[in-house]
Amino acid sequence: MSEEHGSLIKNIKQLSIAVIASFFIPLIIIFLLIVYVSSGKKVDTNSSEQSTLALIKPVGQLNFKDASAPREMLTGEAVYKAVCASCHNSGAAGAPKFADASSWGGRIGKGYEALYASVIKGKGAMPARGGANPTDISDYEIARSVVYLANSAGGKFSEPKAPAEKPATK
Ligand code: HEC
Repeated sequence: MSEEHGSLIKNIKQLSIAVIASFFIPLIIIFLLIVYVSSGKKVDTNSSEQSTLALIKPVGQLNFKDASAPREMLTGEAVYKAVCASCHNSGAAGAPKFADASSWGGRIGKGYEALYASVIKGKGAMPARGGANPTDISDYEIARSVVYLANSAGGKFSEPKAPAEKPATK
């Protein structure tokens, strides 16, 4: 009876062959694909140690950042350009503009400490630290940018004192 259906699988032996084949054939295809894909990355045999190291290096690398590690401190200008300029260049959201004495006059009169505190805590539309992450921009660097910005508009603040662990400046 079953023969009439023309089924390819006619007995247990054929069934087991079909099961095994359906398991191994995809595996073989995947293996061949892997060989095919990785063959493109082959380098010539006399490759230097450097390129061998590059080939066997881990795919992902974690870069742990030691926040206490000494590093070159950004200047006030660099911090300003990276963090503050987006608002203070254009005066976005009512930010007092760079080098615009008229919008800074009253603020500079409050003194450096008050301005620094406003930036660290945030004020009005300005996020705390101007939105900078404390692991990227230190308090000292924020302080430098405050001085840089205020002095651009007529402030006479002196460069803030460097923290004790600051590396020697060049
Ligand atoms: C998202 C926009 C934005 C960014 C980024 C930003 N500010 Fe501001 N800033 C403002 C605005 C708006 C004000 C006015 C706040 C107010 O008086 O309500 C302001 C005010 C200030 C003041 C005057 C504070 C006071 O007490 O009068 C200082 C100083 C200042 N910003 C410095 C900085 C510095 C330095 C940075 C970069 C580290 C920075 N800002 C980044 C928007 C910004």
